[in-house]
Amino acid sequence: MSVTAGLPAGPVAARPRATARHYVMCPPEHFAVEYSINPWMDPAAPVDAARAMRQWTELKGVYERLGHTVEVVPAEPGLPDMVFAANSATVLGGTVLGARFRAPQRAAEAEHFRRWFAARGHRELVMASRTNEAEGDFAWTGEVLLAGTGFRTDPAAHAEAQEVLGVPVVSLTLTDPRYYHLDTALFVLERGPGARIAYFPDAFSPGSRRVLRRMFPDAVLATEADASCLGLNGVSDGLNVVLPAEASGLVTRLTDLGYRPIPVDISELRKSGGGPKCCTLELH
Ligand code: ARG
Repeated sequence: MSVTAGLPAGPVAARPRATARHYVMCPPEHFAVEYSINPWMDPAAPVDAARAMRQWTELKGVYERLGHTVEVVPAEPGLPDMVFAANSATVLGGTVLGARFRAPQRAAEAEHFRRWFAARGHRELVMASRTNEAEGDFAWTGEVLLAGTGFRTDPAAHAEAQEVLGVPVVSLTLTDPRYYHLDTALFVLERGPGARIAYFPDAFSPGSRRVLRRMFPDAVLATEADASCLGLNGVSDGLNVVLPAEASGLVTRLTDLGYRPIPVDISELRKSGGGPKCCTLELH
């Protein structure tokens, strides 16, 4: 019996394999829910900032124990959502495409990250001219950039990303306000040709669902229960999959497919509509 027995045949026939990743995070030092720009946010509900910090620190520790590199951008007072670093830039092949936020409350985050990337020595640094919430709405499969729209990122920003980053962009339309960013409804498990993704079909328009079925016939389809705890806000290194602990159905499915799920407690950050992926910007 071969070692891949039990895994499906097809493009992803090999056993899932981890590759080293480079992440950028920002501590939830000034984390709060002071305004509401998505259905998860209730400014009247209490938020425990110390608990949010413990959850974030644990998430960072998980990446480091897996052998990944984590760089930290300092948090700025007055920007309670800055912990969601994934929204601030899309970085591919050394080119940084900086964000332009839809909500005025988050607008200033983009400039802090731009300065951080500039200080880090990035020369190819372009700021988006249209609303562009970066990895919140862009997912790199290794071949194409999947791009969400419907609530935040402007479809014109998809064309701009293609132009700036020089990679093919596939636009997908989100239709459920709870899944306002692409990364709340879809994530990449394995990159490369024959990439594998996980997603929640109901979060997408009928046409986008057909596109996803056509491009990713062996995708892992999440249930409502997995999606509604932000279970699709996962971070995979090709083998280890960090995801919210409540996504138990997804944990079982991924284990059966040969992945190693790493459930984390992200409950405090979820009060702002975020999960592990939102806190994690990847330098591709
Ligand atoms: N409160 C933030 C917002 O609504 C949460 C962002 C979460 N980030 C993400 N990549 N989905 O903008």
